[in-house]
Amino acid sequence: MPFRMTEMVGCEFPLFAFSHCRDVVAAVSRAGGFGVVGAVSSTPEQLEQELSWIDDHVEGKPYGVDVLIPEVQAVKMDITADQIIAQIPEKYRDFTRAILREAGISEEGANLHGGSQRPNTSLGQELLEVSFNHPVRLIANALGTAPPEMIEAGKEHGIPVAALVGAKEHAMKQIKAGVDIIVAQGGEGGGHCGEVSTVVLIPEVLDAIAEAGADIPVLAAGGIMDGRQMAGMMAMGADGAWCGSVWLATSEAETTEVFREKMIAATSRDTVRSKHRTGKYSRQLRSEWHRKWEEAEIPALPMPLMMLLSEPTLRAIDQASLNGNRAAQELATYFVGQGVGMVREQRGAGQVVQDFKEDFAASYERMMGLLE
Ligand SMILES: Cc1cc2nc3c(=O)[nH]c(=O)nc-3n(C[C@H](O)[C@H](O)[C@H](O)COP(=O)(O)O)c2cc1C
Repeated sequence: MPFRMTEMVGCEFPLFAFSHCRDVVAAVSRAGGFGVVGAVSSTPEQLEQELSWIDDHVEGKPYGVDVLIPEVQAVKMDITADQIIAQIPEKYRDFTRAILREAGISEEGANLHGGSQRPNTSLGQELLEVSFNHPVRLIANALGTAPPEMIEAGKEHGIPVAALVGAKEHAMKQIKAGVDIIVAQGGEGGGHCGEVSTVVLIPEVLDAIAEAGADIPVLAAGGIMDGRQMAGMMAMGADGAWCGSVWLATSEAETTEVFREKMIAATSRDTVRSKHRTGKYSRQLRSEWHRKWEEAEIPALPMPLMMLLSEPTLRAIDQASLNGNRAAQELATYFVGQGVGMVREQRGAGQVVQDFKEDFAASYERMMGLLE
């Protein structure tokens, strides 16, 4: 029986790689998986550049784009970026400055008055238009129900639309909205996540889809770091695996060398589901950054304000960490799932795909052997 997902998006093996790094996306697709580039912090011009680069490096293999259009925002999106930024209370800027000062990190470059990341929700439509000018085979959306414009644009271009969900109730909403693929991400995953674990969420979502009389493929996400886990999810009925954290420890990734070393040292208990990065719960590597906010008992700002404050600050911290600043190394953090405890070494992204294939095949053979 052929893999349903590979037929749908044209890849050889249904291993999906979410990454903010174009090198990872191209390497995974070349190796037979399916790379999906995260466009959350891109302007349309930057996305155009990224996709042109991928087109030149993917050797004709298929890839996708993930745009993040949150359903629920703390601020109205018909105001300018400057007006949004002005809503960040001074107390929060002061606290962030104090973190940097105590660590001996220059405020310059952290841009605490602005934040270099424009909230991209108002740009979602433009990002979609850029994407459709390239040979993308999948569009994905996280953080809420896929908007009707996205579903319609997908249908018009014959490109499947996938949506990330963390609860079966959310899956039902997405199905009603008309998405083609559900990515069910358990709470152990890196980035924004719910509370239900992957091993519970996948059968729940599959049952809910069947009960609704729908026939929609489900990709399992959250905590999947190797082909054994992928085979386990597919034995339950998932149509493939969607992974984020495993690519962060690859030589192609956008992560710093300091963070990759932290990943190798970390155990599966070293992550935290915290609002102190984007304003919504997301799983990250626990660091001094979280300890300081928690100790000061300062609640996170809502999205996108928290993100506008924290992202430039954390970039300055990353830079200082690379320059050997010990305090910065302790503060350094990034989105990562509990699977971080399974990271033993840095590998190339193509090698990771190859290892997944081998472990997947070995697991399948083992299961078949049990039936003999
Ligand atoms: C660094 C990082 C950034 C992420 N950013 C996004 C994003 O912008 N949009 C999105 O749909 N998912 C995002 N995710 C979630 C992934 O798409 C994926 O569902 C998740 O990583 C799966 O769990 P895992 O990390 O255990 O593999 C991110 C994950 C990581 C690790």
